[in-house]
Amino acid sequence: MVTGKPFLTVEQIEKRVQELAAEISNDYEGKDILAVGILKGAFMFFSDIVKLIQVPMDIDFLTVSSYVKKESTGTMNMHADLRENVRDRHVLLIEDIVDTGLTLNHIRTLLLERKPASLKICSFLDKKSCREIEVPLDYVGYAIPNHYIVGYGLDYENKFRNLPYISIFKSEDQE
Ligand code: IMP
Ligand code: MG
Repeated sequence: MVTGKPFLTVEQIEKRVQELAAEISNDYEGKDILAVGILKGAFMFFSDIVKLIQVPMDIDFLTVSSYVKKESTGTMNMHADLRENVRDRHVLLIEDIVDTGLTLNHIRTLLLERKPASLKICSFLDKKSCREIEVPLDYVGYAIPNHYIVGYGLDYENKFRNLPYISIFKSEDQE
C-alpha cells in the first residue's frame, strides 16, 4: 500500500521544479541543449521541467530498468537507446531518483563515449546514503533518506507512477 500522507506534496514538487528550471536556464544561457529523459521513472519530472527551461532544446529518451520489486539488481537493462546523436551536444540527463548510482553511472559512461560537448545530470531526488558508486549530480531537487517511494513517475512493480505527489511505499507485510 501507499501511505496516505504525501512525503512531498504537489506544491513542494512544483516549487522545486521551478527553482531547478531557473538554475538550468541560467547556466545554459546562449546554448542549445539535448534533454535526455530516463524512462520510465523520469517521465513526469521530465515533462514538468522541460516546460520551464528557457533555452532551445531537443528532447530524447533512454529506457532502462534495474529494479526488481524494491531492490536494485545492480545490472542495468537498456530497453531503448537514444535516437539523437550525442556528439558535440550539450547533454542534460534528467532522472527521477539516484539510489546506488549504478544506473546513472552506466548511462553516463555510455554517453561520454559518444563525445558530447558537455554532460550534466539533473535528478529530482537523491538517496545519498545508498550510494555504491559516486556519480556527479549537477542539479538535485531534494536529498531524501532511504525510504522506498512511489508517485510522480516512480513505481512499485510498475504501479503508482501516476500519483501527482510522492509517497512512502510500505508492503502489506511491513505494516
Ligand atoms: P540506482 O541504480 O540504484 O541508482 O537506481 C536508480 C533507479 O532505480 C531510478 O532510476 C529509479 O527508477 C529506481 N529507484 C530507486 N529508488 C527508488 C524508489 O525509492 N522508488 C522507486 N524507484 C526507485
Ligand atoms: Mg529511473
